[in-house]
Amino acid sequence: MPTFSAVKSASTPRTPSPDRAPRRPERHDRAPAPAVYAVSDLHVRYPANRAFVARLRPRTDHDWLIVAGDVGEFAADVEWALRTLADRFHTVVWAPGNHELWTPPTDPVQLRGEQRYLHLVALCRRLGVVTPEDPWPVWRGEGGPVAIVPLHLLYDHTLLPAGTATTEEALARARAADIVSTDEVHLHTDPYPGVADWCRARVELTERRLAALDPELPTVLVNHFPLTAHPTRTLHHPEFALWCGARRTAHWHRRYHALAVVYGHLHIPRTHFVDGVRCEEVSVGYPREWRARGEQPPAPRRILPFAPADDEPAPAAYEPATAAAEPATVTDEPTPVPLTPAPGADEPATAPPGAAA
Ligand SMILES: [Fe+2]
Ligand SMILES: [Fe+2]
Repeated sequence: MPTFSAVKSASTPRTPSPDRAPRRPERHDRAPAPAVYAVSDLHVRYPANRAFVARLRPRTDHDWLIVAGDVGEFAADVEWALRTLADRFHTVVWAPGNHELWTPPTDPVQLRGEQRYLHLVALCRRLGVVTPEDPWPVWRGEGGPVAIVPLHLLYDHTLLPAGTATTEEALARARAADIVSTDEVHLHTDPYPGVADWCRARVELTERRLAALDPELPTVLVNHFPLTAHPTRTLHHPEFALWCGARRTAHWHRRYHALAVVYGHLHIPRTHFVDGVRCEEVSVGYPREWRARGEQPPAPRRILPFAPADDEPAPAAYEPATAAAEPATVTDEPTPVPLTPAPGADEPATAPPGAAA
């Protein structure tokens, strides 16, 4: 039974062996069932977050992990994190965040825009990590079959804050209020004139691939940015919605038969439903953010099989920190390296208390 189904791809990635397909153990062995988990916004430039990744472990040999972007800004950091996770999880599926697409001036990899993205895709293929450019894998464990669909869509400044009618008006108001994403400095879009042009090309390319999917096969859509505007309504700075997605994807959860939508970017981890479709914001976020919510970063969220609220609690493919497991290099933020996102200058991480359910 093949684990992967080639849907439509211009290339052939390295894929796990078909004979490693997840199988539910017999009940009498009491082992946990293989599952698909998701996490995003690992931001491993922060030592505390890097330590979190260093101790992430699957619960079974057949667990999958979705990594929905913002692993880090430096190519070497992205490689370290994805290699660490790919060595442990049966399958790792990655969708790029805006931070991976930055070109930090001190990164030895100075590729920009699409070339940087393709460099990361090539890196993922060496690691056996599934990217948006690869055949979309089909989860055939409990809750399957379901196509796991990583997306690279960006944003196009069409999610307008209330009280504005056009992108131009909204951007002007945001800039006047000095509420602008750091992407404006570090995210290059070559060869596209701007991020909206790159986003448009990605949306059109992806729609063609999605149209080729078997309509009987449900999906888990994975994108760094939310597919609908709903989650941006809880932003502390509503202007940041301009850097958080595109109106053109607002119906994708219905059109492409989504069982769930996985996203990050907002740093407001929560579960909510749009048109009855489960939407999971699975971000870890910056240490100052997750420490405001608890002693540990949020564990990866189980996506499949879906556990209703009255079922077992999220099992967390994650070993809680212990004194012995905590690397000695763990320090508090901010990490003393260049290009640390300044507080309040990155994604809208300042949701009002209670916004992150
Ligand atoms: Fe992030
Ligand atoms: Fe982000």
